[in-house]
Amino acid sequence: MGCSDLCGGRADGIDTECEPVNQEAPSLNALVHGGDLVSAAKRYGVAREAWIDLSTGINPCAYPVPHLEASCFQQLPYQSRDFEAAVTAYYGSSAFVACNGSQQVIELLPKLLPTLPVLLPALGYQEHCKSWRKAQRGVGSLFYYSAIDQVAAIERIESQLRLNKPFHLVLINPNNPTGLLFSVERIVDWASRMPEGGFIIVDEAFIDLHPEQSVLSDYHAFQQASNLLVIRSFGKFFGLAGIRLGFLFGPASLLRKVAHGVGPWSVNGPAQSVAIAALNDHCWHGRNRASIERNSDITVSLFRPLLTRIGAEALGASALFSSWWINRKQATSLYTFFAERGVLLRIIDGEAESADFAGLSVLRLGSIDAEDKCRLARLIQVINDYILALD
Ligand SMILES: Cc1ncc(COP(=O)(O)O)c(C=O)c1O
Repeated sequence: MGCSDLCGGRADGIDTECEPVNQEAPSLNALVHGGDLVSAAKRYGVAREAWIDLSTGINPCAYPVPHLEASCFQQLPYQSRDFEAAVTAYYGSSAFVACNGSQQVIELLPKLLPTLPVLLPALGYQEHCKSWRKAQRGVGSLFYYSAIDQVAAIERIESQLRLNKPFHLVLINPNNPTGLLFSVERIVDWASRMPEGGFIIVDEAFIDLHPEQSVLSDYHAFQQASNLLVIRSFGKFFGLAGIRLGFLFGPASLLRKVAHGVGPWSVNGPAQSVAIAALNDHCWHGRNRASIERNSDITVSLFRPLLTRIGAEALGASALFSSWWINRKQATSLYTFFAERGVLLRIIDGEAESADFAGLSVLRLGSIDAEDKCRLARLIQVINDYILALD
C-alpha cells in the first residue's frame, strides 16, 4: 500500500485502511511523500537543491545554524543542563522527554499506553493512525471524529465521553491539514472527564506561532491532569526538521516509560547545541513569526488566481500551510505539471473524510521564502504557465 503521510478513517466511525477510494486516479497514491526531495529528484529529473518545496509545513526560513563546538560531535549526547533549561523556558514545562523528532513518540506511545479503543481525527497526520493500528494489531479499535466540522467533532468526542468507557483521544491541534483547533479550556475539561485509564494525546506540531493556544500555556491545569500528553515538534517552526528533535510533555510516571523507550541518546549532540541557541533566541522567535505570516500570505496570494480558476475551496489553514479542496482529476494534473517544473506540491486523498467529498482531493500548500527572489520568480512563472495551459 503506497500510503502517503496524510489520510485517515471515516468520520462515521468506521476504520478504513488508507487505500484511495477512487480507483480511476491511481497516480494520486503514487505521489512523492511530502518533503521527499530525493525521490522527487529521481522521478522528475530535477536536482534535489533546485526544488521549490511546498509539500511540507516546514518553515522555509530556517533558524541559522550557529557554529558548533567539536565536543558536541565527539561526546556521547547526555542531556546538558543548558539543554534542559532552554527546553523548559521555551515550552513552559520541565516535565518532558526529548526524542528523535516527534515522530518517535508518535510511534512509541501506542506501545506504552493501555490497549483501549482510540478516537482519532478522520483526516490528519497519518502516522498517528498507522502507529495505533500497528500496536493494537487490528481494525475495529480505532474510531474517528470529523477533522473539518468542529461542531460535529466536539459532539462525537462528547458522546464518547458520555459512554463512560475508557478510551484514548488523539487531537492534532491545529490539525494538519484542516487547521481544526480546540481551545485549551476544552481540552483540559475533556481531560478532567476522561474515563479512568484513557489518555488525551495532543499533537501540537504546528502550535508555535500561537503559544497561547498550547495546552502547556495553562501550566497549572496541565500539571494537575494525569492523563494529558503534549507532543511538540522542533522542526516545523524552526525550519530544522533534519536535526530530528521533538518532545513529549506529560505525567512523570509515563515519561519514565517513554524515556526508557527512546533510550539515552535519542537526541544527538549537534541537535542539542542547535536547540539551545534556537530556543533561547527570543528576538528570532518574534522576527520569525512575522516572516512566517508574510511568507504564507505571499504564497497564498500567488496561488489565488490559479485556485480561483480551478474552483478550489478553502479547507483550512495554519500559519505554516493552507489547504484547499480541489477536483481529484485536476489534482493529478496540477501536481504533475508543477513537479515536472521543479515545484513539489502536496496532494492528500480527501475522500476518506466523508462520502460528501467524493471526487475531491486536498491540496496543501506550504510556504515559499519570499526573499528568495530567484525561486519566487520561478514559482510565479510555473503558476502563470499552468493558468495559460488551462485556457
Ligand atoms: C501533525 C504532525 N505531527 C508530527 C509530525 C512529525 O514531525 P517531526 O517528527 O519532524 O517532529 C508531523 C510531520 O509532518 C506532523 O504533521
